[in-house]
Amino acid sequence: MKTGWKLKSAAVVGAIAVLLTGCFNSSGGSMGGMDHSKMNMDDKSAAQQPTNTNTSTTVKVATLTGKEFTLTAKTSNQELAPGITLPVWTFNNSVPGPELRVKQGETVKINLKNELPEPVTIHWHGVPVPNAMDGIPGVTQNAVQPGQSFTYTFKADVPGTYWYHSHQDSVNQLDRGLYGSFIVEPKDGTKVDRDYTLVLDEWMSTGMSMSDMNMSGGNMSKMDMSNMDHSKMNMGNSNNKGSNSMDHSQMNMGHDMSMYDLFTVNGKSGSLVDKLPVKQGEKVRIRLINAGYLSHQIHLHGHEFKITASDGQPIHNPGILKDSVVTIAPGERYDIEFEANNPGQWLIEDHGENKAVAGMKAVIAYEGVAAGSDKPNDKEKLPVVDLTRYGQAGKMNFTLDQKYTMEYTMNLNTEMKNGDMVYTINGKTFPETEPIKVKKGDTVKVRLVNNSKTDDHPMHLHGHFFQVLSKNGKPLEGSPVIKDTLNLKPGEEYVVAFEADNEGNWMFHCHDLHHASAGMVTELKYTDYKTDFVPDPKAGNKPE
Ligand code: C2O
Ligand code: CU
Repeated sequence: MKTGWKLKSAAVVGAIAVLLTGCFNSSGGSMGGMDHSKMNMDDKSAAQQPTNTNTSTTVKVATLTGKEFTLTAKTSNQELAPGITLPVWTFNNSVPGPELRVKQGETVKINLKNELPEPVTIHWHGVPVPNAMDGIPGVTQNAVQPGQSFTYTFKADVPGTYWYHSHQDSVNQLDRGLYGSFIVEPKDGTKVDRDYTLVLDEWMSTGMSMSDMNMSGGNMSKMDMSNMDHSKMNMGNSNNKGSNSMDHSQMNMGHDMSMYDLFTVNGKSGSLVDKLPVKQGEKVRIRLINAGYLSHQIHLHGHEFKITASDGQPIHNPGILKDSVVTIAPGERYDIEFEANNPGQWLIEDHGENKAVAGMKAVIAYEGVAAGSDKPNDKEKLPVVDLTRYGQAGKMNFTLDQKYTMEYTMNLNTEMKNGDMVYTINGKTFPETEPIKVKKGDTVKVRLVNNSKTDDHPMHLHGHFFQVLSKNGKPLEGSPVIKDTLNLKPGEEYVVAFEADNEGNWMFHCHDLHHASAGMVTELKYTDYKTDFVPDPKAGNKPE
């Protein structure tokens, strides 16, 4: 994958090593001789940031129910894989943050408290919230500053599987762990006996995040400098805005995905992943959420299953599948259901060539059954479920040949501009991209075309669901597919349609957030929408 990039980033990694060496040499020779307690690379953030004394590493992701929640953004350390504990950014001390479960029709309130050294926000990915609650710094609110709070409130109208994450400097903040699942339970829906959520993600086992690579975070304490006393090195997960010469757009190395070598399920990898207990005869739902930047091919062993929802929206009469993989792209969600009718211990695992798939596995463990003989077969190529011909035709909100008020085309591409790799929409990068302009009540048809040679673009529209009408010129054959995040592989073309029924200024962007941060963002703008939000130039708003 992306072989052209590897060379380049290898060179840049070398450059960083040289830079680091230079940096530390100049501050007084070998690491062992340094007085780390006095090392303070960023005064401002040192004052704001409590030293990270939280050494607890075994996390249990909480499930919170009710109508009112508090999410506190703070640093922690988490054991992601046996023996690999990394500094993370969390909501309520765990990655993922707590699962929030609310009931359809309820008005929910979430208090965000920011105890991080940098501003944050929360975006409710997929949930059609009022625009002011969408969590976009500089567009719908000012980023919540360290020590400050913000209350999100909205009515949870549409049941399904969603997730929440920071939308401030999101390529870096999601990488560090600022996300969790958000489930809207239907008023009346089919009951299952077990309802599990698996949030998928990828990490760099070196503990570096992309921002470390870019050095813009000044966060060198995360690198492997084994002689140093990390707990006392308060270099700050800082707002070191000074080192522009090293920033991501110029270094152009933030997009080599091969650096992600540690895959996690609910913040843990391999043997640390929690087992999923079931009893024979039970009906089991597994909600898959991809919080990472790579697609995963999920294979359920030992059982027939159905995909009952994509992006939280039901599939009409889904057919029975077996030994097929469900591809889940960044930002997407799939609900699968099966009957526990095959006692044993069975894997649900990622398939692919990447070595790291070995860590993205959970065990479905029948109670009272000794360990089974199931083995990983993650290198095996299995048929991939094609959502455009899955399930049964049903009621369509839109058709290909009806009249639309507005029609748009989004040509997605990878281009070199001034020596940088950028990701464009109709040849432009955000904020120069042309917004999609609509008025309330418009019907809107969008043709998305991926002209990139090797990059997938999982495109996510905020505040709306769209219906997928065709893929590569062919109308969908199975169930209507309603989504908020749609992955386009290189060369693919999709037509989608939606109703402009939620006024505001909404992001429409690639959820490979490396692509978003390097340009692939536009806005859906209601031309008749008036907002009283005034961006504060001092808030450090970073919407993409
Ligand atoms: Cu999941 Cu614009 O976000
Ligand atoms: Cu992309």
